[in-house]
Amino acid sequence: MAGPQTQPARDRALRGVIFDLDGVLVTTDEFHFRAWKELADELGLAFDREVNHTLRGVSRQQSLRNIYAHNRRALPPDEAFAAQCDRKNARYVELVGGMTPADVLAGSIRLLEALRAAGIRCAVASASKNTPLVLERTGLRKYFDAVADGNDTTRSKPDPEVFLAAAARLGLTPAQCLGVEDAAVGIEAIHNAGMPAAGIGEQARAAERVFASVGELTLGALNEIFASWAKRS
Ligand code: BG6
Ligand code: MG
Repeated sequence: MAGPQTQPARDRALRGVIFDLDGVLVTTDEFHFRAWKELADELGLAFDREVNHTLRGVSRQQSLRNIYAHNRRALPPDEAFAAQCDRKNARYVELVGGMTPADVLAGSIRLLEALRAAGIRCAVASASKNTPLVLERTGLRKYFDAVADGNDTTRSKPDPEVFLAAAARLGLTPAQCLGVEDAAVGIEAIHNAGMPAAGIGEQARAAERVFASVGELTLGALNEIFASWAKRS
């Protein structure tokens, strides 16, 4: 019988799901690619979809450093480097400006509504400083109880900072949450935060389970991933 001396049973139910944004709920990963590709072409730097995978989940500045490193070229002086980041971002913002709610990936809203109906809180954890703009253009903001993004954090994925901030904003501990990501560094960040991960696509293969797209995710699958992770930990 439960008495004052009895320890409460450990809470093993999934309480929160924390979603990456670009490449998970929206195809803005394609806009990042196009904007970087245009800049790289102008600068005479080689850049393709393979290299682009190394930019998933990575900050704007680190992305440009990766492109230079891939080309074995020295970085330009600080001012020129910053101007190149600004140019890429201006083009990206222009592309995002054309987005509408129709650009939300199929299955996202159904999943977010199912989670809400089950009393599970949802948050966004994105490296992007453009997160507020993307959420506004796509009408996604209203589905989330909390948002943490590149404007609130100083350490890039795989550091867990953005996932920990999102969990805290949900009023939950990391042990009550699961993360959803398409980036390899994103899966690492989720694990570093002490959460299990649902991966989207090839690059997310280190996740507890990998899905081809958000449309394949179900409340049942997320509960299962969480339950088997909680049993082991
Ligand atoms: C991540 C993207 O979500 O945000 C990266 O996967 C991007 O490709 C990063 O570089 C930073 O985005 P932004 O919008 O602040 O340049
Ligand atoms: Mg992503």
